[in-house]
Amino acid sequence: MDIREEFPMLVNNKDLIYFDNGATTFKPKLVIDSIKDYYENYTSNAHRGDYNISLKTDMKYEGTRKKVKDFINASKPEEIIFTSGTTEGLNMLIQGFFKNYLNKDDEILLTKSEHASNLLPWFRLCEEIGCKIVYIDLDKDLKVTLDNVKKKVNSKTKVISLAHITNVVGDIRPIKEIASYAHENNILVVVDAAQSVPHIKVDVQDLDCDFLVFSGHKMCGPTGVGVLYGKYELLDKLKPYNLGGGMNASFSPEGNIELKSLPQRLEAGTPNIEGVIGLGAAIDYLSLLDMDKVHEYEVKLKEYLVKRLKENDKIIIYNENSESGILAFNVKDVFSQDTAIYLNDYNICVRAGSHCAKILKEELDIKNTCRISLYFYNTKEEIDKLVSVLKNTDMLYNQILL
Ligand code: ALA
Repeated sequence: MDIREEFPMLVNNKDLIYFDNGATTFKPKLVIDSIKDYYENYTSNAHRGDYNISLKTDMKYEGTRKKVKDFINASKPEEIIFTSGTTEGLNMLIQGFFKNYLNKDDEILLTKSEHASNLLPWFRLCEEIGCKIVYIDLDKDLKVTLDNVKKKVNSKTKVISLAHITNVVGDIRPIKEIASYAHENNILVVVDAAQSVPHIKVDVQDLDCDFLVFSGHKMCGPTGVGVLYGKYELLDKLKPYNLGGGMNASFSPEGNIELKSLPQRLEAGTPNIEGVIGLGAAIDYLSLLDMDKVHEYEVKLKEYLVKRLKENDKIIIYNENSESGILAFNVKDVFSQDTAIYLNDYNICVRAGSHCAKILKEELDIKNTCRISLYFYNTKEEIDKLVSVLKNTDMLYNQILL
């Protein structure tokens, strides 16, 4: 069967060309059906009922934890914590772990191409405890190199926190090499994998990162669910921000609380059960596709996109050499949002703006870009349509002047 037939959004919107997969992805029917099945056939809370439908919910919920563990090759299911998404994962980690781990004047290495979620929580932590942010220089292709990391490391450096693949320019960072160097220097490594886990094979033991976070909705799963992975002995030190049901073993009227062990300790309250079940179905789906093949296909499609866009001398491409399916571009003398609105007239969805990476403009020397972010269900035919619509730049210029 054609892959596209498995996605109701593609079946029901035959003319739609969706190139905004970095923002969120479409969901295959199997994911939607898994959620429907939960609501129609075994709705119940998780970890709380001694009856069949609740035991089924527990099995599905914990089954997803095991699927995530296998998908990213964590060493045990207890290293997988369900969150509402990448943003929550990073905030939990920074407030719950690094607030206790770091001291005044300790340094955190970041880059200016990080997403807001991997900058703002660190800014706040610096304000609260007096630690400092140091930016790693990007090279001419806006990439992070181990040499540039080394240049910023000193005895005060305690953590390096990087996107695995950046959401604006799509470069893949050499996390494994960085983690190996970092650990020789007693530095912890945090990975924002929101744009990598959906697109490439990620093996946390091979990368040897200390923490890694990602979201379900960017990988064919539902919104409102994500994952925080941590090496057990480190994750075990993360102080829960949310206290309540499901995470305590006992408590007394005097306020003595005994917490449960991982992972329940970090999942207070009724979790996003439908989200976790849907994420499990998304992982089943992606596992069948094979992540190496997904990446290979996206890279080929991106190469084709670059080749075709280069036929048009009015197109400026900012990241020709990035290794993922993300392409940042502008039409000469046109504000990116105007290009996006023009493309929308032809049912083509791209994202325009700063893409939540608001300080990258200092490196790019341009404020806003249009972003095409491909996924395995995109096609060369869709690219051909985009290219032909962009060729008609007279229409675009006229539209802006109107
Ligand atoms: N972080 C998402 C994006 O890059 C929303 O579009």
